[in-house]
Amino acid sequence: MKYNARLSCYAIALLALFAIPAVLTAQFVTIPVETADNALVLQTDKKKNTGIIYFGKKLSDPAEYSLAPAMYKEHGDYGSLLNSAYTPSGSRNLAEPAIAVTHADGNNSLDLQYVSHEQRKISDDISLLSVLLRDPVYDFEVILYYKVYYQENVIEQWSAIRHQEKGDVTLQKFASANLYLKGESFWLRQYHGDWAHEMQPEEARLTHGIKTIDTKLGTRANLFEPSVFMVSLGKPATEDEGTVLYGALEWSGNFKIDLELDPTDNLRIIAGINNYASPYTLKPNEVFTTPAFLYTLSGSGKGAASRQLQQWARKYKLLDGKGSRLTLLNNWESTYFDFNETRLADLLKDTKKLGVDLFLLDDGWFANKYPRNNDRAGLGDWQENKSKLPNGVAALVKEAQSGGVKFGIWVEPEMVNPKSELYEQHPDWVIKQPKREEYYFRNQLVLDLSNPKVQDFVYGILDSLFIKNPGLAYIKWDCNSVIYNAYSAHLKNQSHFYIEYVRGLYKVLERVRAKYPTVPMMLCSGGGGRVDYAALQYFTEFWPSDNTDPLERIFMQWEYSYFYPAISSANHVTDWGKQPIKFRVDVAMMGKLGFDIVVSKLPANDLQFCQEAIQLYNSVKSIIWQGNQYRLADPTAGSVASVLYLDEAKASGIIFNYLVNNRYREGSLLPIRLKGLDPAAKYRLKEVNLYPDTKSTIDAGKTYTGDFLMTVGFNPDLRAARTSVVVQLEQVK
Ligand code: GLA
Repeated sequence: MKYNARLSCYAIALLALFAIPAVLTAQFVTIPVETADNALVLQTDKKKNTGIIYFGKKLSDPAEYSLAPAMYKEHGDYGSLLNSAYTPSGSRNLAEPAIAVTHADGNNSLDLQYVSHEQRKISDDISLLSVLLRDPVYDFEVILYYKVYYQENVIEQWSAIRHQEKGDVTLQKFASANLYLKGESFWLRQYHGDWAHEMQPEEARLTHGIKTIDTKLGTRANLFEPSVFMVSLGKPATEDEGTVLYGALEWSGNFKIDLELDPTDNLRIIAGINNYASPYTLKPNEVFTTPAFLYTLSGSGKGAASRQLQQWARKYKLLDGKGSRLTLLNNWESTYFDFNETRLADLLKDTKKLGVDLFLLDDGWFANKYPRNNDRAGLGDWQENKSKLPNGVAALVKEAQSGGVKFGIWVEPEMVNPKSELYEQHPDWVIKQPKREEYYFRNQLVLDLSNPKVQDFVYGILDSLFIKNPGLAYIKWDCNSVIYNAYSAHLKNQSHFYIEYVRGLYKVLERVRAKYPTVPMMLCSGGGGRVDYAALQYFTEFWPSDNTDPLERIFMQWEYSYFYPAISSANHVTDWGKQPIKFRVDVAMMGKLGFDIVVSKLPANDLQFCQEAIQLYNSVKSIIWQGNQYRLADPTAGSVASVLYLDEAKASGIIFNYLVNNRYREGSLLPIRLKGLDPAAKYRLKEVNLYPDTKSTIDAGKTYTGDFLMTVGFNPDLRAARTSVVVQLEQVK
């Protein structure tokens, strides 16, 4: 990493390339970080503190950013650090720091002064700003990085920390980003949950003090709280109105996000790896790079924020975000652990009969000494179970292929049951306290991924599956246990454990992707316990929840959709819930469609419906996956949920409508206003995905202008007899 104390000629030349170059004067430096709609403006003061002087809608004259601070007459920033771009600890800070250190000599103070900055263009859309800060007393530096995705209004921010002191420095805290927002009030929408109850929203006004969203679970870090959140300014943003910031940490382990309403009534957001139990010893010249904190700001409500984030994800983050996905039949809920070759052969035939692309064999196919016939044994022993699969996975892959479908498999490679050969052979690979009683989550323990030997083992599970079965077309990567009794027999410094675990996980995933770059993989974690944008670089989709009751899923998928695109959401039709098959399939279509039902037991009409639904899905999936999503009717606000996916040309779309309240006379009494259409264009709306022998009440012969559909709206005629209605929309040329 190259540090530069002064602006080099190269940097100045680069700056000149930018539409809005940094303004340099004798006293201060102004650095506008601009996207298509917004600006985050950093400015140094006389003492070289780097603060955020503006974060909001872009101004037409960038020279005016510097005029903004004088317009605020708030008092009380005694330490001149409340708006710090990266608050150091132990000097003048009176608020939560972004970074806290113990120097080699035992001193706990840190100050960070501006030294230089550099803006580099990576592509037409992307640029990278780096700002070098240095302590005037200690040989200690931080570089703040801002990766700017101009069109998508997204910024990824992280920091790199380094020192040249005469001995090790301990990083007590090491945030990725430190933001500062001004507003009359701040409204936080955050999420909580548990197994089968993921993504439950709560929205409240932030009061003075610190509100923390964090996790200490180690693995499946999101079980109780994910790192995604949103903050509305002034009042809670609606779908189409209000200023709202979305944030998320790109890290699959412990995180901590502090939202501090400071004494001057402004909001400080400090986000990063959780420093809980994790003081980090940094050697001289070693660079500690934090994960990225991701944020996007919208001045026109939550819908626009989601669309820009979803677009960003598909374009830049999610593995194969612009690609295709496989529909599938999974056997988990139809067989659980109870299957053999004959039963699977039937399921393979059912896969073909149903019309999906792939059969996914779930848990229970492995282990011999302690067979995996329930969740109490066998995890870690990844050899095919000889009595269930005497001819191995290879025979199944072949049989699937000759039957015209693909084959995928479930693994949970980070975990071990104490009742396993792996545990017997490598007790030192297991995370547990040497002197304490073991404590289990789903009867299992977590392997120590900080240990390179364990990384090799975990990589080897995947690698040998692919080597033995080159036709293997899909992996479901599960992770069911949290970390208790955090202790690594491999690490010298136990304080590094939580961080090294996640680094180890990413090293394995890097290796898997280097050799198998395209094979689709589902990120699953005992339901939806693990999804974030660092992990999604390696995965094509995630499992939102084991709760597949479609009524519950309408709400959950709604909340997930604020942050993740539909193409990444694996939605399966199962026997959870009491709704008819049509309702279940319609809900699962709002993402990546799969099934986990006993096809052979489906009544003829249900089967026919599913087969036709899959054909319909195949014809519209590109719009669901790549189109723009408009949330039209909020299920938490009324009796109806409605979501539109519209292609970029505004010519074709598909609207999913559901009745979420079955009280007497409930239905779509009012029309639902569409969004995103061309007001001058004419559209035809046709109900699709009808159950066999039912007729639509919607007249497909009528045409409406986009103006009418967005002003008056359209009524899908939801009522007790029609609880789920899918409408296809086509522009009439
Ligand atoms: C987790 C997953 C399920 C299933 C089981 C298998 O709970 O979320 O989908 O794969 O594990 O044990």
